[in-house]
Amino acid sequence: MRRPLIAGNWKMHGSRGTVRALLTALRDGLDGTDGVDVMVLPPAIYIPDAVRQLDGGPVRVGAQNVADQEQGAFTGEIAADMLTDFGCTHALVGHSERRSLYGESDALVAARFAAAQRHGVTPILCVGETLQERESGATETVVAAQIDAVADVAGREALADAVVAYEPVWAIGTGVSASPEQAQGMHAFIRARLAHHGVSATAVRLLYGGSVKPDSAAELFAQPDIDGALVGGASLKADDFLGIIARAREARVS
Ligand code: PGA
Repeated sequence: MRRPLIAGNWKMHGSRGTVRALLTALRDGLDGTDGVDVMVLPPAIYIPDAVRQLDGGPVRVGAQNVADQEQGAFTGEIAADMLTDFGCTHALVGHSERRSLYGESDALVAARFAAAQRHGVTPILCVGETLQERESGATETVVAAQIDAVADVAGREALADAVVAYEPVWAIGTGVSASPEQAQGMHAFIRARLAHHGVSATAVRLLYGGSVKPDSAAELFAQPDIDGALVGGASLKADDFLGIIARAREARVS
């Protein structure tokens, strides 16, 4: 069985003080992680604080993005080896906010993915369709193109060493999660797409993201192809995030 991963994407929220308080509450509230991987993805400037505070514990620290280049004149970017320098093990690539608000193309996302892997940072590739794409029946075409771009740029086998997060854009920050059936259907599709690229897809962890809350988590985690969650809003509240982690732990033992 794949080990669940619960990752908290804090986006551009917080301050040094709230980061410290949230991580203290998380660490104190975690009654061991019992077969569940837990990760927080703070704004980049708080990564060193988070790594220091979580040192030696089970909670990992990831980044919300990573540069497609190594070093050089790329103002505002953070290279993958800078992330590893500070103890970051994972980085999101292709979050829908990066794609839609900052114009990141499938090709750029794929280049970021490849750069992360070259430096030992595990990419968490975010894929998902907009409401308009879903309503026009294009969901599978869009998601397949997002995955295929990575296979083209990084190589097919690269997909085996990644995490994929299915995040329908219409479910992010809206309070309207995909139903467990909708999410499972797309997760099965993604797994099949990975297999199409020759990846041993049964081993790849697929997270669902989009308005995951403690109340909706159990049903999502009961689906056979959902291996955890990428959590936005609810990861900023220690009780909610701990509740989602608890549901993943229960799903694992049930
Ligand atoms: P949300 O965000 O949980 O607030 O919908 C998820 C995400 O954007 O990763």
